[in-house]
Amino acid sequence: MTKNPPPIPKALIVKPSKATKEPAELGDHAIWQGDAEDMLCALPNKPLFDLVVSSPPYNIGKSYEKKAPLDDYLKWQERILDLIIPRIKDTGSLCWQVGNFVDNGQIVPLDIEMAPIFKKHGLKLRNRIIWHFGHGLHNKHRFSGRYEVVMWYSKTDSYQFDVDAVRIPSKYPGKRHFKGPNKGKLSGNPLGKNPEDVWTIPNVKSNHVEKTDHPCQFPVGLIERLVLSLTKPGQLVFDPFAGVGSAGVAAALHDRRFWGCELLPHYAKQGRQRIDEALRGVARYRPHDKELYDHTKSKLSQIVDTGLEDAGG
Ligand SMILES: C[S@@+](CC[C@H](N)C(=O)[O-])C[C@H]1O[C@@H](n2cnc3c(N)ncnc32)[C@H](O)[C@@H]1O
Repeated sequence: MTKNPPPIPKALIVKPSKATKEPAELGDHAIWQGDAEDMLCALPNKPLFDLVVSSPPYNIGKSYEKKAPLDDYLKWQERILDLIIPRIKDTGSLCWQVGNFVDNGQIVPLDIEMAPIFKKHGLKLRNRIIWHFGHGLHNKHRFSGRYEVVMWYSKTDSYQFDVDAVRIPSKYPGKRHFKGPNKGKLSGNPLGKNPEDVWTIPNVKSNHVEKTDHPCQFPVGLIERLVLSLTKPGQLVFDPFAGVGSAGVAAALHDRRFWGCELLPHYAKQGRQRIDEALRGVARYRPHDKELYDHTKSKLSQIVDTGLEDAGG
């Protein structure tokens, strides 16, 4: 007699009315549909998270946000971070992904504005990762913006970091030392090279394989690299502004647990569906180490310059 496979855990959507102070009730994969401050206040005030990774609303007037004065925005972010940071474990990390606030044509980099909040909590900045991407608005009055940053902070000096889990192919894999005691031996790491702190990963636009109707979802590969290097299987990843659950997808793909929070029911529902697909092994996504599409080799670019950049997917 064949044994039935164990049931695949379903991602949950937890409504605010079912608020719980018992994290066990949230299960291994949950999106709380409601306000991030409410969710955080409903959780026990003790270390729970191994990795917090998020892209907060940037206060630039996207469909899901009301543009507020910068000071008000920063005060709100500080309230959220004051609730999050005590709930990160000592071995854990926080990755806050931000771009620029734009004020009358002047850019205000949010990582610089927010640095004092992290400093107040004694967090340690390990990398300011430049996420470089190909698509975006073409600007007439300044150079077009093609990067955002991920501020990776650890809670303490005893933080988890496994670079071997995210090595990428070396430029010259067969290169050997040509003199000295190691003459003839491979000069690089056979597992590949450290991916460094400038990551070119296509953003999720038009024909990207992960595209949903969310205007600025994370590419799963961006979070996958953080999840693999900063957590171990079974550990808990948290995104207080989960959108369509891309961080949850990255976590589910690699046997990590995930809790997220998303204000808008429509996105929370899609997030749950995407996490379910990842748990069932049918998620469509672009891995972090997939080679970039070289549009200069496409027939189209030889005929006419289309203005297309990295196609993604
Ligand atoms: C920049 S997007 C994050 C997208 C996400 N990284 C993804 O991959 O889909 C910010 C998200 O925060 C949500 N949001 C805005 N205010 C919120 C609040 N007070 N609490 C929880 N979520 C909120 C928005 O609806 C939006 O989906």
